Amino acid sequence: MFAPSAVNSRPWEFYVTDKDEVKQKLMQAHPACKMLETASVAIIVCGRPDLQPGRGFWPQDCGAAIENLLLQAADLGYGTCWCGCYPAEPRASLVKEALGCENIPVAIVAVGVPDEAPAAKGFYDENRVHFI
Ligand SMILES: Cc1cc2nc3c(=O)[nH]c(=O)nc-3n(C[C@H](O)[C@H](O)[C@H](O)COP(=O)(O)O)c2cc1C
Repeated sequence: MFAPSAVNSRPWEFYVTDKDEVKQKLMQAHPACKMLETASVAIIVCGRPDLQPGRGFWPQDCGAAIENLLLQAADLGYGTCWCGCYPAEPRASLVKEALGCENIPVAIVAVGVPDEAPAAKGFYDENRVHFI
């Protein structure tokens, strides 16, 4: 929640669960989060466009919060996977239904104790950096 957000509106809500029945519901709603089968916890980051009327920056704000969450988890020794929801349909609506909330799921973050320590992959591509 320390992430920057447009006009400091902090347009997010976090739903946290370690319950198997909730994780099962999420796996039914989202086609690519099967790692929840073994992950300890799922954190669903949802957007609150109502806190940011007429601006529409809330998906970016939630993205910043999600990335912070991933970095903090890594610092604490946990492994994570960002499983995107909004704007992909029907998964965003189905995850919302599974949570029974009025907010818009931006991502399910699976959090667990990693069983491997892959080397950094190094995706840096200098051709994508443009000095103008
Ligand atoms: C917006 C977004 C949506 C993603 N959705 C999924 C997903 O639904 N399921 C999944 O397994 N990984 C998902 N990922 C993770 C990416 O596949 C992963 O970050 C990418 O393959 C690079 O791997 P790395 O993060 O381990 O370096 C998503 C990542 C982002 C940023």
